[in-house]
Amino acid sequence: MSTVDQSGTFALGNRIVKRLGYGAMRLAGPGVFGPPKDPDAAVAVLREAIACGVNHIDTSDYYGPHVTNQLIREALHPSPEELTQAVHDNLRNLGLDVLDVVNFRSMHGVDAGSQGPAEGSIEAPLTVLAELQHKGLVRRIGLSNVTPAQIAEGRRICEIVCVQNEYNLAHRANDALIDDLARDGIPYVPYFPLGGFNPLQSSILSKVAARLDATPMQVALAWLLRRAPNVLLIPGTSSVTHLRENLASAELNLPGDAMTSLNEIGDSVP
Ligand SMILES: NC(=O)c1ccc[n+]([C@@H]2O[C@H](COP(=O)([O-])OP(=O)(O)OC[C@H]3O[C@@H](n4cnc5c(N)ncnc54)[C@H](OP(=O)(O)O)[C@@H]3O)[C@@H](O)[C@H]2O)c1
Repeated sequence: MSTVDQSGTFALGNRIVKRLGYGAMRLAGPGVFGPPKDPDAAVAVLREAIACGVNHIDTSDYYGPHVTNQLIREALHPSPEELTQAVHDNLRNLGLDVLDVVNFRSMHGVDAGSQGPAEGSIEAPLTVLAELQHKGLVRRIGLSNVTPAQIAEGRRICEIVCVQNEYNLAHRANDALIDDLARDGIPYVPYFPLGGFNPLQSSILSKVAARLDATPMQVALAWLLRRAPNVLLIPGTSSVTHLRENLASAELNLPGDAMTSLNEIGDSVP
């Protein structure tokens, strides 16, 4: 049994994945856009993830060298043609005939500077994705940066196999949503599980980590694994050392009192 196996498994649609996976966004170039600065190093991280038994990897749509900042801005509210083109671009870049899971990321509120998901219909773009699914280009559909109302709207259009929103020890706006999705057997895949561009920092986290002889990042991931059975992790890193460290969190046992202390971090952050 590999270390990653100890994280357990959960059904993503009709596919069983290990709960500890990997997010590839950090392999892109500067500012997480474009091709990697060091392609060999990026491939080494991916090979190591596979060698360690990871079977759930989140790739970034922004990786392709053809994607420019201008295109991304235009795609805030994508037309059917732009969405279809994006799926074809993903297929070509990944060398696939069908995409396993496509997460549609809602951009409502982004142009108005919203920090999190904002209400607004996702019917039009999701209908386009559902048509691409019927054509066999997309196997499963998930949602990202969405509210409970948008998830309900999405589930009336097609099967939603996962939800990917921002969540970590210090950013817990989705606590109720995670529990609701768990009741329906839908995976919740937190992005920025380690704090993203603002790495998690907390004296409580550091104290718990020191007591358990672990690193703060390992404790943050172990806490997420304990948070609910439908939480699937895709921590990002560009480093093989950090990857190994993160995957080892599957073996970290958090005692009840450590969970209680860590829960206080969320309570203390507005
Ligand atoms: N749906 C969406 O809108 C959306 C948005 C953002 C991200 N995502 C997905 O979510 C995944 C995870 O998010 P993320 O990569 O942005 O953020 P993250 O996993 O919270 O954190 C990644 C950052 O933490 C650092 N890090 C990783 N492991 C570490 C360790 N053991 N010790 C110290 N530092 C460590 C990384 O630096 P190093 O490279 O130096 O290790 C990187 O700067 C992404 O890869 C992407 O697939 C989705």
